Amino acid sequence: MQSLFFTHIETLKARTENALATLGFDALLLGSGSAPRRFLDDTYYPFRTQPDFVQWLPQLNQHPGSWLLLQPGRTPKLYLYSPTDFWHQTPQLPTADWTAAFEIESFGDAQQLGAEFASLGRVALVSAERPAFAVEDWQHNPQPLLDALHFDRAIKTEWELHCLREANRIAVRGHLAAEQAFRAGAGEYRIHQDYLVATEHNERDLPYDNIVALNEHAAVLHYQFQQRQAPNDPRTLLLDAGATCQGYAADITRTHAFDPSSEFGQLIAALDEAQRGILANVKAGVDFVDLHLEMHTRLAQVLADSGLVNASVEAQLEQGITRTFFPHGLGHLLGIQVHDAGGWQQDAAGTLREPPAEHPFLRLTRILQPGFVVTIEPGLYFIPSLLADLRASAAGSAVDWNRVERLSPFGGIRIEDNVAITAEGHENLTRDAFEFVSQCQPAG
Ligand code: GLY
Ligand code: MN
Ligand code: MN
Repeated sequence: MQSLFFTHIETLKARTENALATLGFDALLLGSGSAPRRFLDDTYYPFRTQPDFVQWLPQLNQHPGSWLLLQPGRTPKLYLYSPTDFWHQTPQLPTADWTAAFEIESFGDAQQLGAEFASLGRVALVSAERPAFAVEDWQHNPQPLLDALHFDRAIKTEWELHCLREANRIAVRGHLAAEQAFRAGAGEYRIHQDYLVATEHNERDLPYDNIVALNEHAAVLHYQFQQRQAPNDPRTLLLDAGATCQGYAADITRTHAFDPSSEFGQLIAALDEAQRGILANVKAGVDFVDLHLEMHTRLAQVLADSGLVNASVEAQLEQGITRTFFPHGLGHLLGIQVHDAGGWQQDAAGTLREPPAEHPFLRLTRILQPGFVVTIEPGLYFIPSLLADLRASAAGSAVDWNRVERLSPFGGIRIEDNVAITAEGHENLTRDAFEFVSQCQPAG
């Protein structure tokens, strides 16, 4: 696996040297980030490493205050912040095999870096804050450089794909444990705890806050709480929960009906079939905006077949009915960040393509290319505020409101897979992981 990592670093070097040469920089300094202190308090916000730094040094995930110096033709140099601090565990110089790709030096006081960096020439600095040691004419977060680096980041290296595959396998273990807890009658909090145990993650390892939504909560797209009390009548579990492997994220959603043979259970099966239908068209050369619009067509068919909407597919699309039930985007780039950078970017120069006006939440408007990793996550929700708007509009007469009322206590459905685009089509990291992990579960 180490050889994949070294090849990954060589790819990053080539991309960075190209961007620096094009934009006229002599050096790039990447900061790992800092953990800000809470206002009027002596506790800190959880630390999360700056994503551009993660791509080079995913092994260092709790190392605020460090810097990586990149200069064309030179070995990348890590300045590891290791202050004298008897309150906290401070980082030691790493010694694992991957360190062969770097020169590494530790420091305790950032003042030291001023002299070290005095003669670097034209410097681009990428960090949340401008550090005190920065020289006046250094450019802080120059947009053209960020655009160039982020455009390239959509194409994953083999090593990144390996991490994303593994992150999916870890998350799937959590999803299987969570479903088991749901079927045993557990509440949201308990399901979340079982997820953490099965993935061997704590909260700060998660790429985003788990969405553990029972019953009506499944209609809240980013439901953020975990009720301690289990409901008397569990109907739905919508679990949108990921995992990380070396800083790379899985982003998986599964929706379970307590009674799979119920009307809602059948609706899940119908959306699952529609999701697999759209997956069949996920390949290089396809415009993601077209896929998103095609998903609306497929959803209109699901709504018509289930009796929720009594209107043709064409009429539903024309009147925007499907957007009430599926208000978010079909998917997004995935990698170091859950919503990875550059989703609207059309070129390295930073040209943006916004999504169609009626679909403002679509985060990806690029043509798919081999190496992209994206999510495919259609939904079908009963969101009270959006349904009220539809009911009040002319298009509302096509909806079977009795059926909506019957299904609203189930909240909604989202089915989300992580997919790597290949030269031949795609690799479904999530469905493959479910198959792989299920085979490894102890029998009985
Ligand atoms: N978990 C956030 C999303 O699916 O985009
Ligand atoms: Mn997602
Ligand atoms: Mn998700």
